[in-house]
Formats: sequence, structure tokens, C-alpha cells
Amino acid sequence: MGNTPFLDKLSSTLAADRLLTSLDECTTFATDWTKIPGRAIAVALPRATAEVQNILRLCSEFEVAVVPSGGRTGLAGGAVAKKGELVLSLSRMNHMGPVDAAGRNVRVQAGVTTQAVHEHVAPAELTWPIDLASKGSSTIGGNLSTNAGGVRVVHYGMTRKWVTGLQAVTMQGEVLELNQDLQKNNTGYDLIQLLIGSEGTLAVITEATLRLVRRPQHVMTTLLAVNNLPRMIELFANAIRKTGFDILAFEFFSSRCLETVKQKLNRQCRLSVQSPYYLLVEMEGQDSASLKTNVEDWLEEILGSGFVIDGAIAESSADKKQFWSLREGITESIALSGPVKKYDVSVSVNKMAALIADVESFLSSHNFHFDLYLFGHLGDGSPHFNLLKHSKASAEDFEKDATLFESRLFELLKNCSGSISAEHGVGLLKKDWVTFSRSAAELRLYHSIKDAFDPKGLLNPGKIVDPQK
Ligand code: MLT
Ligand code: ZN
Repeated sequence: MGNTPFLDKLSSTLAADRLLTSLDECTTFATDWTKIPGRAIAVALPRATAEVQNILRLCSEFEVAVVPSGGRTGLAGGAVAKKGELVLSLSRMNHMGPVDAAGRNVRVQAGVTTQAVHEHVAPAELTWPIDLASKGSSTIGGNLSTNAGGVRVVHYGMTRKWVTGLQAVTMQGEVLELNQDLQKNNTGYDLIQLLIGSEGTLAVITEATLRLVRRPQHVMTTLLAVNNLPRMIELFANAIRKTGFDILAFEFFSSRCLETVKQKLNRQCRLSVQSPYYLLVEMEGQDSASLKTNVEDWLEEILGSGFVIDGAIAESSADKKQFWSLREGITESIALSGPVKKYDVSVSVNKMAALIADVESFLSSHNFHFDLYLFGHLGDGSPHFNLLKHSKASAEDFEKDATLFESRLFELLKNCSGSISAEHGVGLLKKDWVTFSRSAAELRLYHSIKDAFDPKGLLNPGKIVDPQK
């Protein structure tokens, strides 16, 4: 596999079960959910921060590039090893400390899954409010590195709000112990916030102290069929004004997404009516009786509006699970249907309907070799445009069309001050567009920050920005 002196030294530093070198294992760990083909020299699987220090020191000494890796559920290629780097998988660093109920936090290692954290803190009636369709596999290190969003951003915000402390290791092997569990600490630059969302390009996150919140006690979930997109936004504005409940999630998907989930994953939908769009709305109330009354009143009001053409309330936890399985199964069902290009963008909520209308009118003026699958987080102004290749189209035609679509979409976003990546990050896939979305002054600072942390450019190379020539 090349670089024998480095591998010899690495294997003498790490226990045998912490290093994988077979072609199969290296190929698996070198990619993520994007399926971009990767190539790794080896995979290191440390269990402790001290091992991460040793690995990074060795990589610096031998000038070997490193790709930090977690659950590999990323959708922008941020964890893909493209050029024979060492994959540093944090997946075996999965210890969770005791829940601090008074401080409302928990310290965990980076390789713990999002769902494991939820389950660990639930007995204390607390939760870590980041909730993702990929929660069973995504890990805390990846969540933090990408500043993950998910289905509850409308209520809780993104990952960066839910971290009080970080431990990270630099390429020089130094441990940065940032803040731990203090609620207040105004002593200069906030390196925690700098590392969150930096996609493993500045330092490797090894542990985090996560901020917790009281677990929602009284929750109701509804599924609505809606025939009009601009009205869906009005519906959201109307729902957040209501005093009888708080909105925890306001998610939408098109009928094409619903049909694919039903077909590919064999899922059932309680609503039998055909509609262009569906909404999954989750609400929290003070107590179950008043919540039920308030949700039913709201439903009665909107069902009389003419544009909400059907609606159902989850009556049991099985119903709730079924409603969510329709929304959460979209990514998997599309992936099972053929090659897909994903555009996870962001715009202010009140400009979302206009953006989607512009995209649809662009699509209808071309004969593209793909279908649009539209879904996402309506309450956050975060639609996901997924392009699925027509089964008979050639890969070249699909690429060509997607490139054209991409340029138009990003131009439309620029015109409405949107963002080319809402929650999936930049990784490899959106890197060429960073220069389009950030000013020259911002990019100069990006390069200076990268140089300060990683002067040799060895940490997750090729992600976010290229080194300056
Ligand atoms: C989602 O909203 O389900 C995720 O961002 C995944 C995706 O966009 O496919
Ligand atoms: Zn999403």
C-alpha cells in the first residue's frame, strides 16, 4: 500500500486491533454516504485521546495526510479519503460519562452515536436536541464537525448551540481542552465555535460536553396533505403564532418522495388523498389534554381553508413512528432508486416559495435527464433538491444536466442571499462553490486560520478550501 516506514512505525505505536490495512476495509472506510470512491493507506481506530495524539504526531513527522471519520453518514464527502490518506476513525471512542442533571450536560467521546446519547440521557428526563434521520449511525464528532441540523432546528437551532465544551487534538499532537462545562466564560476568542463546522480541517474532535434540555413531555404529531406551496409557508407562520403549542418540527416532502418511500421501503401512509405536498408537523404542549384540544382546533381551522386537503393525528407511538418513517425514509428510498445529486440549500423562510417556483420554472424550460425530489425543513427555510437520474439516461447526460442545474440554483441563491449548504457542509462536493459564496476578505481569513492550525495542510486536505498557491 506504500509508505512502509510510516505504516511500520504506526503499527508499532498502536495495538494490532487498532489498525486496518486490508484493501476492503480501507475502501469501505475511505468513503461515506456520498459513495464517492475513496482510497486510504490504512485505517486507525484509536480508543483514547492519547492514541489520537500519537497518530497525529506521527502523521506530522512523516507528512502523511489524515481524514477524520465518524459514522460516515455525511452527504458532502467531508469524510472521504480521496488520495490515499490515513483514515482516523473515532468510531471506537464511544464512552459516555454520567449525566450532570444540575449542570444539564454530559461529556462523551466523539464516536458515540447521536441516538446513543439520546438513550443515555433519557432516564434523567433530558435530551440532546439534535435529531437526525441518520441518528442511529451518525456520531457526535461528525455532528459537531459539520454543525449538523436535522428535523428540530426550527425549535432548538443547530448543533453549535448545544455544546459547552470540546476536547480536540491538533496536528502537532497538542490537546485543546476547551471550556469543559462552564456556562459562562468570556475570555476571548471562542475556539469551540471555530472548530464546530470546520469539517475536521483544523483539529480532530475527541470529546465533547453536550448541553442538554428537558425532554419534551407532551408531544403530538400530525401529517397534512397540502395542495399549495406558498400557502404551506403561510401555514407555518400561522402555526408559530399559536399560543396553545410550540412547533418542534415542520417538515415537508413532495408526492414523488412519498410514493418512492412507500414503494422502495414498503411503508404505509395514513392519508389516502393524493396531494402535491405533505407536511409533518410536531407540536409540544403544557399538558396532554390542552395540547390535544389546541391541536384539534388548529386542524379543524386549517382543514376548512381549502388548501389543507387532508390531515391525520398520530394516536399512538406506533402511528408517530409511522409518520416519521415516511419523512426519515426519503434519503434511503431515493438512494435505492438510482444515482442522485443532492442540493441542501438555505434561504430565509419567506423567500422559499419564490426560490422553489424559480427552480421549477427553470426545470420546465429544459428537457433534463432527471426528476426532482423535493423535501426538507420548511420551518428552517432549508429545502433539499434531490435529482434522480432517469433510468435510461446516460451517466454523462445526467452529469451535464446536473451541472447546469447546479449553476442556475446557486445563482438563484446568490440573488436571494441564500446559502449553497444549509446543513450538510462543504466537503468535496460543494468546495468549488465556497469561493462563489464567500467574499475575498473572508477567504483570506479562512486560509490564515487553516495555516495557524495546520501549517503543513495535512488535516482533511481538499475540504472546504484548497491551500493557497
Ligand atoms: C434529511 O433532511 O433527511 C437529511 O438532510 C438527509 C438528506 O438531505 O438526504
Ligand atoms: Zn436535512
